[in-house]
Amino acid sequence: MTAQDFILKTYNSNIQNGTVKWTSPSNIALVKYWGKKEHQIPENPSISFTLSNCKTITEVTYTKKESKDFSFDVYFEGEKNAAFKPKIQTFFERIEAYMPFLKAYHFKIETSNTFPHSSGIASSASGMSAIALCLMSIEKELGVSQSDSEESQDYFNQKASFLARLGSGSACRSIEGELVIWGKNESFKGSSDLYGVKFQGEVHKNFKNYQDTILLVDKGEKQVSSTVGHKLMFGHPFAKERFTQAHDNLAKLKDILASGDLIAFVKIVESEALTLHAMMMTSTPYFILMKPNTLEIINKIWTFREQTNSKVCFTLDAGANVHVLYPDCEKEMVLEFIINELAQFCQNGHYICDQIGSGAQLIKN
Ligand code: PMV
Repeated sequence: MTAQDFILKTYNSNIQNGTVKWTSPSNIALVKYWGKKEHQIPENPSISFTLSNCKTITEVTYTKKESKDFSFDVYFEGEKNAAFKPKIQTFFERIEAYMPFLKAYHFKIETSNTFPHSSGIASSASGMSAIALCLMSIEKELGVSQSDSEESQDYFNQKASFLARLGSGSACRSIEGELVIWGKNESFKGSSDLYGVKFQGEVHKNFKNYQDTILLVDKGEKQVSSTVGHKLMFGHPFAKERFTQAHDNLAKLKDILASGDLIAFVKIVESEALTLHAMMMTSTPYFILMKPNTLEIINKIWTFREQTNSKVCFTLDAGANVHVLYPDCEKEMVLEFIINELAQFCQNGHYICDQIGSGAQLIKN
């Protein structure tokens, strides 16, 4: 597939209005994407667990109009929200070439999240994938050939992921579950820089219902946005090695997912998280997104693992919050550990229990 293949050539302009609704989850990367080229093309491939409970629910109502400009209103949790408009305006500008009907309709976009608004959890992955899916459902409504074949379902998901990527890179990994790869990599046939693809390899039962408890260490606004962070990988002294390492880690993870080797899994996942933050600390200018409590939690996890033989591990996003990952069979033991020893390091003791999920869902067509 090339970007050209995603250009909608004709559509039925007689359709006056309609409503579509999707719910789409967040995702957590195991091998991290950090560094991008123009048009949100990743410098290295990444793989993520799709989450289940942390989701955005988005309803889009479209009404035919005359004007030649984009026209839309955004409502967040029931209230008109002007702050989201510039991001959506940019998104529409980036995807217009692939969706020629965007200026022919007024869009009422109503959105809400299942996780608290100021939790420090990035809503861009779930938010951008949800809106991309709504636009794809509209494209399907306006489409001249209506088909539900497997081929057209693949096209639907690929284009939804392609559009979501143009909204926010990692959002392209939120369309499907349970594991999604984004970025071309030799070990994965069909992998692409343009969109995320479902991991097709063997997955050992150890990874079934894998748990992710998100410890909310810092709910505030990040000092450095991901957009700025990605840019700092240009001319970064360790960039080349880092991009090669991500390819290698992805290939290793493929075997680990098949064998169920949790010790090897922990090593790669934690190393990826710390490498991501090491890239931030060694860029120019340098910055630190971890907080003292992030390190307290990491040390507690390491001690707990030593004492109990548990396979619990951590990963980090571009922020201070900690994702605690563990197999379903350790759920009771690790939750008790989180409540007794880790919750004290969370802002107001807050954490969110989630687990690996199967991807976005259509609610209304
Ligand atoms: O999708 P962005 O531009 O917000 O970048 C996200 C990057 C990380 O979350 C740090 C890593 C990843 O692969 O999700």
